[in-house]
Amino acid sequence: MLSYKILDEITPYRFRSESELVKSIEELSQIFNFQREKIGEYLSDERLIGAYLYFYFATNVPKMKQCLELLPRTIFEELQTSQIIDFGCGPAPLFVALESFGIKSEKWGVELSSLMLEAAENICEKLGIEKTQFVQSVKSLPEMKKPFLVFTHSFNEISEIEAKRIIETLNPQNILFIEPGTKDVFKKLTPMREWLIATDYQVQYPCHTQHACPIQGEDDWCHQVLRVNQTIEVERLCQILKKDRRNLPVCLQWYSKTEAPKIKQATIFKNWNETKFSFEGWVCNEAGKIVFVQIMKKTLDKLQIKKMADYRAGHQIKYVIDKELDIDKLRVQYIDND
Ligand SMILES: C[S@@+](CC[C@H](N)C(=O)[O-])C[C@H]1O[C@@H](n2cnc3c(N)ncnc32)[C@H](O)[C@@H]1O
Repeated sequence: MLSYKILDEITPYRFRSESELVKSIEELSQIFNFQREKIGEYLSDERLIGAYLYFYFATNVPKMKQCLELLPRTIFEELQTSQIIDFGCGPAPLFVALESFGIKSEKWGVELSSLMLEAAENICEKLGIEKTQFVQSVKSLPEMKKPFLVFTHSFNEISEIEAKRIIETLNPQNILFIEPGTKDVFKKLTPMREWLIATDYQVQYPCHTQHACPIQGEDDWCHQVLRVNQTIEVERLCQILKKDRRNLPVCLQWYSKTEAPKIKQATIFKNWNETKFSFEGWVCNEAGKIVFVQIMKKTLDKLQIKKMADYRAGHQIKYVIDKELDIDKLRVQYIDND
C-alpha cells in the first residue's frame, strides 16, 4: 500500500497542520461536487494539488486496483501487449495500480497541469515504475502500434466532442473509462457507448450485448460499487472529513475493436442481497435485459457462498435457468467462473 511518506517527499506544498490539509481537501471536494465551473482552477494551485495527492490520489490507487480486478481477465493480456495512454493522468494512480499487477508495457500520461505532471514523474521515479513518459497534449504523442486509451476521472472534465476527437486521433484498439459512478457521468457515457458501437468498437464490460442499454432513458444508472481497503492514515482523514472512501461507486466501461466473447453471463446491476436461503438481486443479462435472479444457497459450496456474499453491483456471474418464478424473475443455478 502507498504510504504518506512518499507523498511527504513529493508534495509541491507543505501543510503546516492537519487542519490546514483537512480544510484544503474540503475546498477541493466542494469544487469537484458543487463548483464544477471552477474545475480548472485547482490545477495550478500548489496547496490544492497537495490536497489532491493526500486524499484523491492516495484513495484512487486502491480504487483502480479494484477496477482492474473487476474487469474480465482478458484485459491483462491486452494491457500487457499495448502502449497504455492515460488521458488526464494526474499524479498517475493508474500507473501505480498497473505496476502492482506486473503490467510492464510502455505507459504514456497525458496531463494538462504542470504541477500534476511533476507529481506523476516524481511518484513513478520514487516507486521505480519504468517505461513511463508524460506529455501535456495528445498532439505530442508518437505513432503507436496498439494504443490502449484510458480515461481516468477525466472524461467527466472534458466535452463529448473533445473525447471523440481524442479517440479519432489516437484510433486506439482498446478504450477504458474509469469515471465517477454518478448519474451525470452515466448519462454522458451513454451516447459515447452508442457512438463507439456505431464506430468500430464492442463493449467488453459491463454489458453482454451491443444493443441499446436497457436503462437508457430511465431514472436510474448503471455503475459498479467497489469496496476498497484504505491505509490507516487515509482512514483517519476520512473520519475527520466524514467522507466514505471505502465504498466507492464507479462508472467502469471497457470497449475494444476485438469481438466480445459470446458467453452467457450477466452483470449484477443492483440490490444484490443475501437472505437466509439465497442470494438474489437484479442483473443485466446477455440479451441486455434487466432480470431478477435468485440462487439457492443449498446449490452452492462454502467457498461459493463466501465469494457471493462479497458480490456487489458490477460483478459478473454465469448461470443456467432453473425455473421461471414470474415475469423477469428467475431461479438460477450458478456456474463457477474459476
Ligand atoms: C480528477 S483529475 C484525475 C487525475 C487522475 N487520473 C486520477 O484519477 O486521480 C482529472 C485530470 O484530468 C486532467 N485534464 C482535464 N482536461 C484535460 C485535457 N484536455 N488534457 C489533459 N489533461 C486534462 C486535469 O488536469 C486533471 O489532472
